[in-house]
Amino acid sequence: DPKGTQSGLLHCLYQYLSRSPSPSLPGPPSRFLIGNMMELTHDHLPIHLTNLAQRYGNIYRLNCGNTTMVVLNSGEVIREALVKKWSDFAGRPISYTGDIVSGGGRSISLGDYNEEWRAHRRLVHSALQRCCQKSLHDVIERQALHLRKVLMDYKDRAVDLSEDFTVAASNVITTLAFGKEYDKSSSELQQLHCCLNEIVALWGSSWISALDSFPLLRKLPNPVFSRLLREVARRDEIIKKHLNNYKSQDKKNEDAITGSLLQGLDKHHNTEDGVLLTDTHVHLATVDLLIGGTETTAAWLNWTVAFLLHRPEVQTRVHEELCTVLEGRYPKYSDRHRLPVLCSLINEVLRLRPVAPLAVPHRAIRDSSIAGYFIPKNTVIIPNLFGAHHDPAVWTDPYSFKPERFLEGGGGSARALVPFGGGARLCLGESVAKMELFLFTAYLLRDFQFIPPGSEASLPDLRGVASVVLKVKSYTVIARPRPGTNP
Ligand code: HEM
Repeated sequence: DPKGTQSGLLHCLYQYLSRSPSPSLPGPPSRFLIGNMMELTHDHLPIHLTNLAQRYGNIYRLNCGNTTMVVLNSGEVIREALVKKWSDFAGRPISYTGDIVSGGGRSISLGDYNEEWRAHRRLVHSALQRCCQKSLHDVIERQALHLRKVLMDYKDRAVDLSEDFTVAASNVITTLAFGKEYDKSSSELQQLHCCLNEIVALWGSSWISALDSFPLLRKLPNPVFSRLLREVARRDEIIKKHLNNYKSQDKKNEDAITGSLLQGLDKHHNTEDGVLLTDTHVHLATVDLLIGGTETTAAWLNWTVAFLLHRPEVQTRVHEELCTVLEGRYPKYSDRHRLPVLCSLINEVLRLRPVAPLAVPHRAIRDSSIAGYFIPKNTVIIPNLFGAHHDPAVWTDPYSFKPERFLEGGGGSARALVPFGGGARLCLGESVAKMELFLFTAYLLRDFQFIPPGSEASLPDLRGVASVVLKVKSYTVIARPRPGTNP
């Protein structure tokens, strides 16, 4: 029956069109073969994606090779996908290069959502929680005091503090992980940072991401990719050495996460879900904590000082609050409810410069919808946290640094912030990071006044350099001890 065949075909066509996100979701015109690939090569991708939202709205699509990406640019749509419909969007894109840096997709940050990933994340989450309850406060206080000493020793010299912030953040993680801290000059520490930074930078480069979208390119020689392979091998060697050292110690640091994880593995062998977690999972969890927990916190501290140089009166207000409330002693994390000015500064820096500005891409693990648009299985979701934090519908004067907006109300509320993502993929280190940001900032602003080394021209450039982590361009600063501070 030709009429029947015709209506059958029309039905199929209708079904196909209604399943594809492209005709209904807005987005820039797609070019022959390369789609919207060029949109992803901008030097400051978060700003570029946020600008596109002004034209295409808070949710739009980009086509890249055979992948459709959907960019979410407001807190509302991000929360709908990541929190309300978390079970639809908890996947990670399965990528050739992602597999290479994550031991075949077995890390927490890049592993896809499945039983094995859930068991892995649960194991690390509970080990991290146990260790944080026991020792996190002491570990951060110790590093904050060490940082204070390092700054005192600079004696009014203009210096770039970024490396000191990295060492402080990294020592918090290595102490939590294996009970070990390093000196800035330690060659072992430098090797580790150098190699982790290289991996993050190389993996974020378009030479590498092109291999995911265009499989044919994998057949051609690619020196950047060869470098990535070398750095991953070097990283694995360093971490393996640490884990073996830890295992061979007679007197192990009982508080270290590695110990909890290894014990957890033994227990886990007998669980009924049939997942077998191995030493490789402990290895990759260590990589996750080191990568996730070092450059993020360090970049945030660097941003805070940079913004304070532009608005010195904010420093004065925070310092006065610390003096009045603490009456001379150093702060505890439990003091945070009595230090609203300090907390408003922390929130404002998290808002303006979310250090993981595009989070980590998610993947729809089944057909679903966001803001009423149909989103088919396997669509890649980019939560543009930077965009959400600059949404003019939520924040008045969104591009200005105004910590006071969190004190006065009306200019946006801390509940609208999403710097750590949300739902099943919420940043695993959120509680570690929050305690670090609070204690490091409080210790530094209690004892030092940060001043620019020269005239207005020496103030830091606040635009930033965006890769996986959003960093401030390097700058120098003088950390002058406040009068009456003990050397
Ligand atoms: C993931 C932000 C510090 C470990 C993430 C994500 C964001 C984020 C936005 C992606 C969430 C998503 O996929 O939707 C931040 C910020 C930090 C910070 C702003 C500091 C200011 C830390 C620290 C650690 C850590 C200190 C470790 C102790 C991780 C891990 C993941 C992650 C393991 C992957 C989680 C998963 O895929 O399930 N973080 N992070 N982060 N973060 Fe953090």
